[in-house]
Amino acid sequence: MNARGVAAEKVTAEVLQAYAATPDPRLRELLAALITHLHAFATETGLTTAEWMAGLEFLTAVGQKCDPERQEFILLSDTLGLSSLVETINAVAGATEPTVLGPFYRPGAPRREMGEHIGRPEDGPVALIRGRVTDTAGNPVDGATLDVWQGSGNGLYDIQDPQQPDFNLRGVFTTGPDGGFAFRTSRPVSYPVPIDGPVGNIYRATGRHNYRAAHVHVILSGQGYEPVTTHIFDSANEHLGSDAVFGVRDSLISEFRPAAPDDPPDVRYVVDVDFTLAPATG
Ligand code: BEZ
Ligand code: FE
Repeated sequence: MNARGVAAEKVTAEVLQAYAATPDPRLRELLAALITHLHAFATETGLTTAEWMAGLEFLTAVGQKCDPERQEFILLSDTLGLSSLVETINAVAGATEPTVLGPFYRPGAPRREMGEHIGRPEDGPVALIRGRVTDTAGNPVDGATLDVWQGSGNGLYDIQDPQQPDFNLRGVFTTGPDGGFAFRTSRPVSYPVPIDGPVGNIYRATGRHNYRAAHVHVILSGQGYEPVTTHIFDSANEHLGSDAVFGVRDSLISEFRPAAPDDPPDVRYVVDVDFTLAPATG
């Protein structure tokens, strides 16, 4: 190792030492790992002063883009795959796989009846989504909740589109004693994540497209069970292999099969999808 490498190691060791007595053990562990990896990033890449400053200016712009409706830091985390990774690390064994929450969730969606449509005819062709929620032993979960939301056929969520009524394409459904649920929605389409802020520069500079694979969002919950934030992806979608925020999981992909003559006449597609909840961990 040359003299510069030795000096760099000395800086890293000195910083680690300065935080080594942090009283909270978890904070101590997180800080030590953060410092180690951050310093290794700078050392391994030979980070220049200009690049370091450009990075700080980028993070400043990300912060300045944030307001109560726009969380550019979460979008940054999504775009770098960190949100997807954190969901994966925290997945509960045996339960439906989790994926990113995204910025368009709104609490307080209306409770709806079994089979009800969460949207309007103009949102797109009607898909009937139905299945059962069971526990990890295969028993039906009675009274589980599915909080469902998605964008319209124009690629916009209600909160992005003044033409949509409040809480359009949102609804909360409750399973019956057999764990069964059913709801109608429009077949989802791919839509772009916002690139009008600094995170957009990442997509432009790297040549990545900014489309999410078509999906329906679901938060599953039930008394005594770990909640799961997940998606239903459309198996025919062109962006499954290149989702802008790395949210696709093979286990979450379902077929939107064309309706058959014995399906309800208003329905164009039928999706059969089951979910699994695991006991609460504490
Ligand atoms: C979404 O699925 O709604 C979403 C997720 C991450 C970034 C932007 C949008
Ligand atoms: Fe979404």
